[in-house]
This record gives sequence, structure tokens and C-alpha cells, in this order.
Amino acid sequence: MSSIDYSEKIPNNVNLSEDRTLQRALEHWQPNYLQWWNDMGPDGSQNFDVYLRTAISVDPQGWAQFGHVKMPDYRWGIFLNPGEQDRKIHFGDHKGEAAWQDVPGEYRANLRRIIVTQGDTEPASVEQQRHLGLTCPSQYDLRNLFQVNVEEGRHLWAMVYLLHRYFGRDGREEAEALLERNSGNADNPRILQAFNEKTPDWLSFFMFTYFTDRDGKFQLCALAESSFDPLARTTKFMLTEEAHHMFVGESGISRVIQRTVNAMNELKTDDVAKLRAAGVIDLPTIQRYINFHYSVTIDLFGADESSNAATFYSTGLKGRYEEGKRQDDHLLKGQTYKVLNIEGDKLVEKEVPMLNALNEVLRDDYITDSRAGVERWNRVIEKAGIPVKLTVPHKAFHRNIGALSGAKVSPEGRVVSEQEWSQRVNEWLPSDEDRAYVGSLMGRVVEPGKFANWIAPPVMGVNRQPVDFEYVRFN
Ligand SMILES: [Fe+2]
Ligand SMILES: [Fe+2]
Repeated sequence: MSSIDYSEKIPNNVNLSEDRTLQRALEHWQPNYLQWWNDMGPDGSQNFDVYLRTAISVDPQGWAQFGHVKMPDYRWGIFLNPGEQDRKIHFGDHKGEAAWQDVPGEYRANLRRIIVTQGDTEPASVEQQRHLGLTCPSQYDLRNLFQVNVEEGRHLWAMVYLLHRYFGRDGREEAEALLERNSGNADNPRILQAFNEKTPDWLSFFMFTYFTDRDGKFQLCALAESSFDPLARTTKFMLTEEAHHMFVGESGISRVIQRTVNAMNELKTDDVAKLRAAGVIDLPTIQRYINFHYSVTIDLFGADESSNAATFYSTGLKGRYEEGKRQDDHLLKGQTYKVLNIEGDKLVEKEVPMLNALNEVLRDDYITDSRAGVERWNRVIEKAGIPVKLTVPHKAFHRNIGALSGAKVSPEGRVVSEQEWSQRVNEWLPSDEDRAYVGSLMGRVVEPGKFANWIAPPVMGVNRQPVDFEYVRFN
């Protein structure tokens, strides 16, 4: 069992105490991290006792220990999955060689960039979500929010460890900068745009954890294939935590839908005004939130044709999703892939070298995965006997990166005029009015077992505790 040493100031399973210089550098970073958590972490929550899951080892049995903890006392630490003996590089130009235990000089800049870009998203999401605790729909949900937040904090630790351990002075500077950029800050924003958007209400939060944390899953899966073994081992462990974040999103939206369809059946109506008067979130509004979060998130995969993506793959830094399970040569030279372009008022497929299209390959894998959950939401609607289907919009809808950037395309995938776009955009994306309505529902419900009117209770509680368990003690 690869257990984690909790007697250390920085809990870890990497024998930190044997590397004094590294330990000192990280202990120097730690108070800055805690200061950041105080300033930018969950608002007004420092004194709450929260029923949190903490990892005590990285094997399947040991990574989930539950108990009430004050969040600033959460044991953030450095946990890597155990190494595989004689692991070999399994894709790109170095295929068949031994995986790297250190950073090859020629790939240092690119690896650092990949790690910093991933690392930046982790604290960004904590910042985006920092006010949500003030409007939680229940204690159960509040606890889930905080669980996601502390784990994103730990993911930052995971990336900072790599920077300190393998990138010397540059790495230490990057680790400082990760605490200095802030989500939405005009002068010093987070690196990726979706992480500078607001998460103003709980519908947005559930959409974010469903769609945007899933982008995290796909990026981490691609990095878990990396030839740089410490990165592969770190991201593998992060993925076990990430699964819970997507569960929070999927089950959250599912419960919102459940409450809505119940109200539709009780009131025998699909009239938006009547449903809003009853205080639930109508399905067309949910669809518009899906359209927004989905389109913003698929932009995160980057340009559809990218020479960087080709370089990252060929040099072995970043693989494809489930690289090891694919039946091809894992070199991809001479192979092609179809990407979407716009010509006049038509969307056309264009065949391009696959190596250059690897962002698009990962985006398409993501699309398949995110559709599956939407189908599960549809079953909730279907069970209620309501003839409505939610969908993800067309890939070309509302894009801001790559060949489709700025194209005016309807959610069904029809190229539309500027005029039609501006006439119908409020049917397709959340309007100010939608956001104001959803915002108006956000009260604060904290009595154990009680839930806001717009969301159904979960089927079961956390870690087999009852739904009305005291998940948060406010003190
Ligand atoms: Fe994360
Ligand atoms: Fe996450």
C-alpha cells in the first residue's frame, strides 16, 4: 500500500523529507498557498467543519477517508500513483524507449508550458466558485462544492510539486505566478478564457462541473500517457478525484430536471411563465445553459489544426485519450483526420494530417463522452412522460477558437446571417433575463435535510450518511 505520510508538514508519498532543498522550497510556497486560499477560496467558510474526503493512500481502498475538517486545515499534499516497473514510451518518435524519470533538456520549455497551463485551471475554478457557498441549495450541496474546491486546491499542489521538483528556478517562479493570476482579473487573468468566466449561480456550477471538469478529465487522460513519468503518475491520481466533480455536475443537473418535470406534471403545463411562477427552472433555460457551457468548454481543446499539438504528440509529451487501448501505429504519420471549416454559408469537412488535428481528436472524444450524460438526463424527462429532449449543440455553434471562430451557426448546425443570429441569440444562449431569473432563485438553504425549491434531493447521501446528515457545522 502506498500510504501517505501525514506527520509531515506537507503530506506526501514521494519521500519529500529525503530532499531537503525541495522540501524547504515547497514549505516556503505553502504559506503563500494558504494566504491565497484565505483571500480567494470559499467565501466566509474558514471556520466551518465540513464532512470532507481526504486521501490517505493512493490505492483504491485508501484514498477516501471521511470526517469533519476545517478547510484551511485540509491536508493538501503530494500524491503520485505508484510507478510502473520499466515503463516504456508507447507513442511518438521515442516509442519503445524507457519513460523519462527526468525532463529531457530539449522538451523542458514545452513540458513546463503544459504543466503550467493545466495547473492554472485548478485554482481558477476555486476562484470562480468562491461565492457559491452563500447561496447553496442544501448542506449536502454545500459540502460537495467544498469537496470539489479542496481537491482543485490539491491539484494545484500536484502541478506545483512537478514545477519545483523538475524545473528549478523557472519552476519556482511559475509556482508563484499560479497564485498571482486570478480568474477574471483584467490585468492578470487566468490563462484559458473559460476559466475567466463567472460561475454566478448553482445551475452554472453544475454545468461547469459536468462540462468543464470533463475537459479536465480529457486533458488529464492525455497527460497520463506522457513519456515524462512523474507527470503521468500525478495526473493518474488526479483523475480518481476528478470523477467525483463530474458526478456532482451530472447528478446536480439531473436533480434540477427532476424537480422541473415534477412541477410540469403537477401543474400540467409547459408554460415557461407558469413554471417560473412556481419557482422551478424551465427546460428551455436548462437547454440554453447547456449550449453556453458546452460551447465555451469545447473551445478549451484549442485550434482544430495545431502544429503544437503535433509536436506534443510526436515528442511524447501528451498522448491521445486512451492511447494504450488504440490499435494503430501510435506514430500517426501519413494519416489524416476530418476537421470542420466554414466556406461561405456552408460547413465543410476538410481532410488534414492527423498529427496536426490532435486537438480535434481529443475534442471529438470529449463530445462523445459528454453526450452520454445528456442522454441520462433525457431519461429523467422521458420517465416523467414529457416529450422533450435536451441535446448538445452542433460543434460549430458559438465557437471562439480555431477555424470556426466567430462563425454564426445555429445549435442545429445551420450557418445563419448576422441578422438571424442577433434575432435568435436569446433562444440559443442564456439571456440576461434567464440569468436574472436563475439568480433570483438562489437563496441559502442550510437546515439539514432541507432543499431549495428548484432542486430535488439526491437519491442518497455522501459516504452512506443520510441525506439529512449534518454535512457542514457552521460554528
Ligand atoms: Fe482539477
Ligand atoms: Fe475538477
